[in-house]
Amino acid sequence: MAGLQQFKLDTAWPYDILNIRDQGGDVKETMHVKMLRGAIFEVDTEASEPTRWKLVTLRGKDQILFEDGYVVKVYDGNRTLVEVTRTELVPTEVSEETPLTDAAQALKEADALLITSGAGMGVDSGLGTFRGRNSGVWPPLKAMQKDFSEMSCPNWFGSDPRLAWAFWHFRHQAYALGTPHAGYSILAKWGKDLKYGLFSATSNIDGHWARTEGVGPERLYECHGTVMRMQPVHGDGIWATDPAEYAKLNVPSWDLSPGEHVEVQISGGWIAAVVGADGGTMQVSGQSRAVQGVRRAGGPDLMRVSADSELPKCRDGRPARPNVLMFGDWNVDCAIIDEQYDAMKHWLSSIPKDARLVIVEVGAGTAVSTIRRLSESTAQRFPQSALIRVNLEDSKVPSSIRRSIPVGGLGALDALSRIDALLS
Ligand SMILES: NC(=O)c1ccc[n+]([C@@H]2O[C@H](COP(=O)([O-])OP(=O)(O)OC[C@H]3O[C@@H](n4cnc5c(N)ncnc54)[C@H](O)[C@@H]3O)[C@@H](O)[C@H]2O)c1
Repeated sequence: MAGLQQFKLDTAWPYDILNIRDQGGDVKETMHVKMLRGAIFEVDTEASEPTRWKLVTLRGKDQILFEDGYVVKVYDGNRTLVEVTRTELVPTEVSEETPLTDAAQALKEADALLITSGAGMGVDSGLGTFRGRNSGVWPPLKAMQKDFSEMSCPNWFGSDPRLAWAFWHFRHQAYALGTPHAGYSILAKWGKDLKYGLFSATSNIDGHWARTEGVGPERLYECHGTVMRMQPVHGDGIWATDPAEYAKLNVPSWDLSPGEHVEVQISGGWIAAVVGADGGTMQVSGQSRAVQGVRRAGGPDLMRVSADSELPKCRDGRPARPNVLMFGDWNVDCAIIDEQYDAMKHWLSSIPKDARLVIVEVGAGTAVSTIRRLSESTAQRFPQSALIRVNLEDSKVPSSIRRSIPVGGLGALDALSRIDALLS
């Protein structure tokens, strides 16, 4: 076939599967190849001029151009041939679904299911993560030029409680009013009839697992707490969040348009500014500035709970806060977190060491590595276990894990639904 065609090259590290797709996305061929980081791909046209290299093109990370009747050669960084021509490459039975098929197989054989999850699990329910492609926690952070970790700190309840409550109001409403997507019940279904059942460990604070039938509060470890519980700013005591208390907090809408004229608070005073092109940053005299407040002329501060709203408090009148482990948090009441941890430990210790425990980790990041470490250390403890890591942007699993199945490049719901389809 004359002329070059563009194909997409798929690799799923550390898998040695190479899927070659056409422009329509259909898999043209699946091969086993030894893929090396930094490898060079060379492509020949077999049909017309078998001995002459026609093309050595690698576009971006995962695109390669070649003609039909190709030969693929893979070189390492020193241009040493580490793979062979197409005739010697072994076409596999494995379809484009390889990691998904492996995941389904592991689940078919499972005796127990540990679900571990981070912020990526909530994306399909409309919730933002902290980092990466789907990040989005609270719109005013851009104007403040602060990272979420600087805002997710308990000291704001003392220094600027109306700002703190605007932040937590936004998060609580997003989590409480959002509905867990179908992936939650898919996972619960997978664990339902297993010999040793299931347990869910999450760093998410959205309370979505507690609302999932088949998991609920009794099979749950929320290592960072939840916005569904409250505690005093100082001292111990935990109670269920009253949604009405959040609902009655009056926080003006952050509905600014790029180029809009506003007033911003800098060093205590209010001065004129213009909303930046991203709708979040604030420009003062043409320069982007970090601000402590934003308002339309004469209007309320859009970053804070209005002065007419009473802030949540304990029964005895002391200031309250969410029962969430924040950054630099020495006052979080860990009583329920500890109980949940003990329940998880108890469940794990009830499972024989040779049981086939499947750990399905979904959307856990690397910056706060609690969940990844839990998945990996549990996988190490059970020699027959499998770790399925579902992650849109980073599904790599350390080679020390015996049976690891990285499911990358797919959103949580998509990946879980595809595995579920393979199971049924
Ligand atoms: N819903 C929530 O409760 C919520 C939301 C944001 C952050 N947090 C908390 O903040 C801390 C940060 O940790 P983190 O590592 O979980 O978050 P993170 O933002 O650091 O990382 C998110 C991870 O999710 C992956 N991801 C993004 N979209 C995905 C999708 N659609 N499907 C699958 N994976 C996807 C990313 O590749 C990344 O690895 C944790 O305590 C976390 O629970 C909680």
